[in-house]
Amino acid sequence: MEIRPLTGAFGAEVLGVDLGSGIGDQQAQAIQMALAENGVLVFREQAFDIDGFEKFALNIGEFGDTPFITPVDGHPNVLRLLREADEQGPLFGSGWHSDWSFQLKPPSATLLYAVDVPEAGGDTAFTSQYLAFESLSESMKSILLSLKGIHSAERSYGPKGTFGRPDPNSSMDIHGDETAVVHQLHPLVRSHPLTGRRSLFVNEVYTVGIEGLTNSESSSLLKFLFEHCKQIDFTCRVRWEPGTLTIWDNRATQHFAINDYFGNRREMYRITLAGEQPVLASS
Ligand code: SIN
Repeated sequence: MEIRPLTGAFGAEVLGVDLGSGIGDQQAQAIQMALAENGVLVFREQAFDIDGFEKFALNIGEFGDTPFITPVDGHPNVLRLLREADEQGPLFGSGWHSDWSFQLKPPSATLLYAVDVPEAGGDTAFTSQYLAFESLSESMKSILLSLKGIHSAERSYGPKGTFGRPDPNSSMDIHGDETAVVHQLHPLVRSHPLTGRRSLFVNEVYTVGIEGLTNSESSSLLKFLFEHCKQIDFTCRVRWEPGTLTIWDNRATQHFAINDYFGNRREMYRITLAGEQPVLASS
């Protein structure tokens, strides 16, 4: 297995491995560690059917909980992210976020496998939350270390959220409900259980406030942090081909589905892997 950096910042392409034909424990551990270190791993020309995709995922983790979206028939842990060429509704994933960060134990990682993609367009952008944290001043870091973010699915899946009502024109069955309005606290800075590195655990889609601050303090600080995370120097971008599998670490990255392919069809399969409750370890 050869690991080649995707950019000078983070992310890597992994060469010389055929995941569909099965991997051993040593390779699985090498992938888990490479993911924790690089944040994003891209594997090209992988051949999976849905069973094979699930089997590979279970080599590197356990399935996480997948709320609000009807999964593939007979595969409760697999989502089909489908957008037909003429669809115009809100695009799933098109906002900076870390998957399901509103859960008590948000997913450690997400696997996304491309089946049908536009010739150009429909890339996924990523930003490194390790770099976002590490590049802050020591004074700002010490303020953030004591704070907790308030995460909620309300803006996306609450009754008034982007996907709050079923859209009959959508190829995906996304169904928000009242359960989305609950709040979950997580440290603003978390330690990665494998690398020990600290990352900034905030995202524009699901972080709705900061515990203990006034609304004005919290919205100003979050605005600063959201902008800070999006700096081009902290990002990488994956161009898809049929057969590309990308895995990202939700503990160390955010991602954004780019909405630039109207007139083209895109079909992907997605699995999230279970994670742990975020903690900030003392250094
Ligand atoms: C997601 O947020 O999981 C979707 C990413 C994508 O479709 O590129």
